[in-house]
Amino acid sequence: SVFQCAIDGPAASGKSSCAAAVARTLGFAYLDSGALFRCVTLKHLRRGTESTDWHDFTAATDLRLTALPPLTGTTETGPVRPRVFMDGEDVTAAIRTPAVNSHVSAIAAIPDVRTALLAKKRALGGGIDGTLPVPGGYAGVVMDGRDIGSTVFPHAQLKVYLTAAARVRAERRVREAGGDLDLIEQELVKRDALDMARAVSPLRKADDAVELDTSAMAQDEVVATIVGWVRD
Ligand code: C5P
Repeated sequence: SVFQCAIDGPAASGKSSCAAAVARTLGFAYLDSGALFRCVTLKHLRRGTESTDWHDFTAATDLRLTALPPLTGTTETGPVRPRVFMDGEDVTAAIRTPAVNSHVSAIAAIPDVRTALLAKKRALGGGIDGTLPVPGGYAGVVMDGRDIGSTVFPHAQLKVYLTAAARVRAERRVREAGGDLDLIEQELVKRDALDMARAVSPLRKADDAVELDTSAMAQDEVVATIVGWVRD
């Protein structure tokens, strides 16, 4: 069956970049579940505010993540993030704006949105327990998000809960993309509080997840640690 690795944690904990590097090192598929919630949020913001059947709205949205090239040797060449396509449009940049950041947690708290995306997440990652084939024929998947170990892949062979101090997370985000440190820290803390407070599959460490505090770790060390756990 398919090896499932779940990486969960708060906003800007380094999940996406570490998960992508782990997947590329192992030749697994990398699946960014946050991107799916961001797409639904973007589509909703563009369309205005009329009421919606959220399940149909979400289920009818075509969502695709491009494959990342395998990482061999030491030279980093390929993109570290997949490109994201929503209904055929490249929305890679459009899903990472401040407007999407500030609305995504509310949209992600809608039960019908979660149910519809749960089906898509499992279809991309080998089913609930890794017994279905993964598109692209990969031997394993690394999916990052908030509820992967707790809900999406409850039987995942490896569950990692990545954390880091809020200030450290904000500093990393500013180094990557610029912006005001205090404002970014506030935004992250607020989003985490909303993600932890929602009724359906809130952000939390799964009981059988291993917690890794990356506050004082370089990304290379985090990636090597997780790759080591997969190989053990
Ligand atoms: O990981 P990222 O910051 O892109 O996720 C954006 C938002 O999507 C999160 O703040 C959370 O509200 C939602 N999300 C979620 N469940 C996941 C992944 C993301 O609710 N598995």
